[in-house]
Amino acid sequence: MSRMRVAITKKPAESGARSAPAGELKTACIRTFGCQMNVHDSDRMRRMILDAGLSEVQDYESADLVVLNTCYVRENAVDRVRGHLGQLNRLRREGKVKKIALTGCIGAAEESAELKEQYGIDLVLGTHNTYELAEFIGLPTMRETYTPNLPGVEGRHSAFVTIMTGCNYRCSYCIVPAVRGRMICRSMDDVLEEVQRLTAGGTEYITLLGQTVDAWRESGKRFADLLKRVAEIAPRVWFTTSHPSNMEDRTLRIIGESPSIVKRLHLPVQSGSDRMLKMMHRGYKSDRYRRKIEVFREEVADGTLSTDIIVGHPGETEEDHEATLRLVEDCRFDTAYIFKFSPRRGTEAAEMPDRVPDEVVQRRFLEVLRAVEQNALRQNRDKIGSIEEIFIREGRTRNGRAIGETWSGHAVHVPAEAEPGSYVKARIESAGPHVLYAGEPAN
Ligand code: 5AD
Ligand code: SF4
Repeated sequence: MSRMRVAITKKPAESGARSAPAGELKTACIRTFGCQMNVHDSDRMRRMILDAGLSEVQDYESADLVVLNTCYVRENAVDRVRGHLGQLNRLRREGKVKKIALTGCIGAAEESAELKEQYGIDLVLGTHNTYELAEFIGLPTMRETYTPNLPGVEGRHSAFVTIMTGCNYRCSYCIVPAVRGRMICRSMDDVLEEVQRLTAGGTEYITLLGQTVDAWRESGKRFADLLKRVAEIAPRVWFTTSHPSNMEDRTLRIIGESPSIVKRLHLPVQSGSDRMLKMMHRGYKSDRYRRKIEVFREEVADGTLSTDIIVGHPGETEEDHEATLRLVEDCRFDTAYIFKFSPRRGTEAAEMPDRVPDEVVQRRFLEVLRAVEQNALRQNRDKIGSIEEIFIREGRTRNGRAIGETWSGHAVHVPAEAEPGSYVKARIESAGPHVLYAGEPAN
């Protein structure tokens, strides 16, 4: 087959990739799990699928090829994927789905061999060789064509731009360094060129992406320099995820000063206890985190703050948990993503003694959740009565409201037919812990 020509660019022994018979695959469905890095990788695979002449469908039943682009961060992620694999196998027996590909972080993990065997998966790819999907679907492609340096597909109004991949930290609980590898930064020129191209093509909203986005650097230049340049080009900018040890005061000042940057900071803290932070190898103490937040509040008037918190890491005592509750009170987060510790095979924490019993984890989880939500609700209520300029995003709520975002980074529901990508001005009329509700737009 002519595809043999391209076989020299791949390493079959590593990936176990088998090419699909030409012409057999006409439709493909990509299902994405997990973080925005995965959303971005899915965009890249979508481009390959469209380039290969397949059309994208949204449901498994009408797909010849199903790509599950997976997340491995927490254990239930694997359980969820197992559920999907079971369903896909049934459809394959009924002659519907023809090929199944498993990509992303589970694909890069040891457990993927077991899943491949059990569910007869046709193609398993990690996060570093997603470009091999191209060959699988019959594209005469080369390795370089779909490397991380390549831009993602433009959304109509918003786009993700990956500025770094991988992570140089070694947090005790985290599988990311094992599956995504060490940090690789894209060059500033490359990033700016992509941002320029996207905005020239009408993209309104650019989100800079990376596992530790603020660790970006290039020969003396740091993340703050890159952010400033991007904010001069794009009409609306955000970035995620940051690491407290890399977050410079200069970056916080730029967020406050730049009219195009959404004033929301996502800065995962993980725990409020210095003892736990040390055990997790986070590289900072809780007071240093608090000081960063003070600077953020000073520099970014009306900004919103979100974080990630893990409850029940091995060895977490009641005292450690109380320190987390105190930090939640002090930092007044607007949103927190709270995770129950989940042991990931291959991480240091999975081997640690002193596991916290499930019922204790559950209670602590609820206590942290309650503290965050009470605070968020109080702060959101303070917004009632204010007139906000709201950026309308894609998608609608179940009851037909447009979904938008204020410049302060609050999510807002708007009762209007507003066009995605446009701005409306509206008064905030009520608030819940997670979202603000606007009245009819004034414009
Ligand atoms: N268990 C629970 N939460 C985890 N996270 C990462 N690994 C684990 C784990 N093993 C959480 C962290 C991280 C977020 C993306 O997921 O809070 O910031
Ligand atoms: Fe994982 Fe820690 Fe790296 Fe974040 S900084 S991706 S939690 S190892």
